[in-house]
Amino acid sequence: MRETLIIGNWKMNGNLAENEKLLNTISILNDSSESIKVVVCPPSIYIAQVSQQLLKSKIKYGAQNVSAHKNGAYTGEVSTSMLHDFGCSYVLLGHSERRSFNYESDEQIADKFSAAVQAEIIPVLCVGETLTQRQCEETFLVIEKQISKVVEQVGIKAFEHAVIAYEPVWAIGTGETASPEQAQAVHTKIRRQLAELDENIAINIQIIYGGSVNENNANSLFSQPDIDGALVGGASLKGDNFMKICNASEKP
Ligand code: PGA
Repeated sequence: MRETLIIGNWKMNGNLAENEKLLNTISILNDSSESIKVVVCPPSIYIAQVSQQLLKSKIKYGAQNVSAHKNGAYTGEVSTSMLHDFGCSYVLLGHSERRSFNYESDEQIADKFSAAVQAEIIPVLCVGETLTQRQCEETFLVIEKQISKVVEQVGIKAFEHAVIAYEPVWAIGTGETASPEQAQAVHTKIRRQLAELDENIAINIQIIYGGSVNENNANSLFSQPDIDGALVGGASLKGDNFMKICNASEKP
């Protein structure tokens, strides 16, 4: 049985006071449940604050991006060993906002993936199609390519401790969610793609959905057999709503 994973992606939001309040609200999450794992990904500069405040909590935390390089003259970058120093367990990679605003290529994302695996930080590989690609019926093709580019570079075994997040670009921050059936169809396809290379990895890997997940639609998404959790943006900034999403994922 795959554990349910709910990741809050704070993006470039928050400040010391707001983060403290949010963490106070959600810090009890996970205390009573063994079947779900909750993770928050604050902006890098607040990772130290989050690590301190979550010392006694079961909530894990991670970063929204990382450099593929170990160290050196890379102004503005943060390395995997720095994330490790602050106890990060996860890192988001290839988020569509980074693919479009920072022009991250599949090759660069694969390099970061490899660096994360080496540092024993779980990479969360984000994939997804744009609206035009969906309308042109290229969804599966686009996602298959995004995944295979990484697999080619890092090898399928590197996915043993990885997560895939399916995030249709048209659903991110728009209030428009993929229907549970649409998301399930893509998740199945991803699992099949991986199964051709390694059945064990395909069965065990967590494939989570992201894109306008909220407290009202979470339950129907989580009821799909191949949706193992959610990557939550906007709704992860409101403690009560994030709690409701996490509670909706509790399997009876
Ligand atoms: P959203 O963002 O929940 O605000 O749509 C999801 C994401 O970008 O990870």
